[in-house]
Amino acid sequence: MASTRTAVGKASVLVASNRGPVSYQVREDGSLDARRGGGGLVSGLSAIGPDADSVWVCAALGDGDRAAVRRADGGLLPAEETGGQRVRMLDIDASVHAEAYNGIANSVLWFVHHLLYQTPLEPVFDAEFRRQWASYQAYNQAFAEALAEEAGEGAAVLIQDYHLALAPRMLRRLRPDLRIGHFSHTPWAPPDYFRLLPDDIAAELLGGILGADRAGFLTRRWADAFTACCHRVLGPGIPSGTDIGVHGLGADGDFLRERAHRADVAERMAALREEIGEGRRTIVRVDRTELSKNIVRGLLAYEQLLTDHPEWRERVVHVAFAYPSRQDLAVYRDYTAEVQRVADRINERYGTPGWTPVVLHVKDDFARSLAAYRMADVALVNPIRDGMNLVAKEIPVVSDEGCALVLSREAGAHEELGEDAFTVNPYDITGTARALHEALTLPAEERAARSKRLAAAATALPPARWFLDQLQALTAQPS
Ligand code: G6P
Repeated sequence: MASTRTAVGKASVLVASNRGPVSYQVREDGSLDARRGGGGLVSGLSAIGPDADSVWVCAALGDGDRAAVRRADGGLLPAEETGGQRVRMLDIDASVHAEAYNGIANSVLWFVHHLLYQTPLEPVFDAEFRRQWASYQAYNQAFAEALAEEAGEGAAVLIQDYHLALAPRMLRRLRPDLRIGHFSHTPWAPPDYFRLLPDDIAAELLGGILGADRAGFLTRRWADAFTACCHRVLGPGIPSGTDIGVHGLGADGDFLRERAHRADVAERMAALREEIGEGRRTIVRVDRTELSKNIVRGLLAYEQLLTDHPEWRERVVHVAFAYPSRQDLAVYRDYTAEVQRVADRINERYGTPGWTPVVLHVKDDFARSLAAYRMADVALVNPIRDGMNLVAKEIPVVSDEGCALVLSREAGAHEELGEDAFTVNPYDITGTARALHEALTLPAEERAARSKRLAAAATALPPARWFLDQLQALTAQPS
């Protein structure tokens, strides 16, 4: 038996993800401030109930998290800080984590799956890349070992995303008794693009996920791309022994509707109304500032709309919230600056004393996002490529009067919402401008009817169901 294996733990359901359900900041007086996050896994794990003996294994991401792990003596975090969830946070060496997370996961795997490289000059897979890859392996191995320690005999383990593509196979070696699932929250690259990766790395990534009993994806399209990559890289007949599943994560309708009607959201609506001006239509977008979200082309399309249709000037405002993400990476910081620059240029070019064409906010504020959702006449969701895109699902659920959805055909959500959306090619500025015009001119009744159908489709698989379905599929499968 592997020497790394210590006593078998007790958990019967385990989740593993880079980012955990709680994060810590060090306050000025040195004490720790715990903040809880949301998302599908949080709802999913709470749905299986406190008696289920579940453990969530995640990585310490910053100094606050590392201090919390030290305080917990490397064990479970205090339950009152995690909302009752049993969480084991791993204090992986900071430089190993940075190379695995920023170097490989965010700068290579994210780029491959979202088709983000400017290929004449990148990617460059050199000695530095190989060094970072070794850190990615070590980081995955640390997860596999922690999971092997925490899992009870025959437990189900749900490993999340491109950060942890190698962990399923590593864990399988340590604990052949476990039921192992892997779930990709991103798109999967088509074979020609996936093969930008060095052949051995491509094979290692696929083989890592194929170490699981079940590989889950958000849409049929991403699942098929994964299978196609397996066939091209590993040969025909693969994957064998691994089931492929499709689980399209939906919006949490009940939570959103309740949360969107609290007092802090009403306050934000009043403030936004001031900024927008009375009686104007709104085109709303809310994103983390990812390169894949295509915020700059969204702004260019809006500018084109104002050029092609002067009748909209003074009558519409583009409300764009672009929240910070992965600011350790220069390319993300540059992209954020570009979003700001283009927004400013549009405001200078078209703005009048009483009208600001683009209202851009870059500071994360969930209540203000919900306020914008409620006020949306048009929702603009135009990613270059996106695993699902929950904003496309959330806005129709929350919008007060119903919204028209302009949606990229490259978002996973398009598989479920395409029929009632205005579909766009994310690179086509002229086409996106036209879609914005059509969406703005949609008669109110038609808009409300479409929005209702969009909301129904968007909430068909709420997070708790999404999680439980996967768990059931994994444990029902014969070993
Ligand atoms: C997005 C993706 C997820 C990914 C997450 C990581 O939400 O859809 O697939 O896990 O980003 O974000 P982070 O801020 O932790 O890098």
